Amino acid sequence: MLKRLRDKTPTTRFETVRPASVQPPSSVSYTDIHCHCLAGLDDGPATIEKSLELCRGLLADGVGTAIATPHQLGRFEGLSTPPLIRGAVADLNDHLRAREMPLSIHPGAEVRIDERIGALLDADRIMTLGDGGRYLLLEMPPEVLIDPRMLWEALAARSIRPVVSHPERNDLLASRPRVIDAWRQQGVILQITAACLLGAFGPVTQRTAWYLAGSYAELVVATDAHDLDDRRPRLHEAYAAIARRLGAARARQVCVDNPRRLLAGEDILSEMELDSGAPRRWR
Ligand SMILES: [Fe+2]
Repeated sequence: MLKRLRDKTPTTRFETVRPASVQPPSSVSYTDIHCHCLAGLDDGPATIEKSLELCRGLLADGVGTAIATPHQLGRFEGLSTPPLIRGAVADLNDHLRAREMPLSIHPGAEVRIDERIGALLDADRIMTLGDGGRYLLLEMPPEVLIDPRMLWEALAARSIRPVVSHPERNDLLASRPRVIDAWRQQGVILQITAACLLGAFGPVTQRTAWYLAGSYAELVVATDAHDLDDRRPRLHEAYAAIARRLGAARARQVCVDNPRRLLAGEDILSEMELDSGAPRRWR
């Protein structure tokens, strides 16, 4: 079943890649809106030492500001409550300051989609990005296709915009691009993972990630880093790859400007600036 659906994944014109002439500006300081850098709250680092190791990796990747997004609900229900997350962020920032590491951590969460989300938001039991009350990072189950439209409506009633984390990693969603297209009218923002664009999760996920990067305007790229091994930060590499394939303006939009705007609680940029030849719509 899955193989048949994967075969429907839209194809893109990757062969129209320009030479690697565009490099990220050295002055860029990235804002990473999705990383698992808090110790002992989810499947990220188990200890504060490992947490600081990941923070060093984020700094080396050019990240100066990050939103810590431990998993909430699903198999992590009850383990990473908003008070625990806020306390862990304050603790990590203390450790970073003590070591003069120029990385600023803000609280957030990656929330598994759940029909109780509206009520849990009202009860302060799940965390919005930056604790700002405007954007909520939501994770779809990896191999299940659900209809989230009622959830989008529940969030709109609370003036909260959904940010769907790595839709390219959901096999069924990746094979139904028009489902994602329809979300655009309901204010859904997509978060693509840098490592997926670079092929770390396989060719199908990579192809879908590139298609979304070139066709869905309201989009951000983040690391979803968990460690310095298989799930390491690769935002700088992704920036360079996007600049080569889709143009420097699009790279800056999705890797620099939109993440910074999300954290600040501002509107993100809704117009794409793509180089000619870049994929623009599903086929
Ligand atoms: Fe994540």
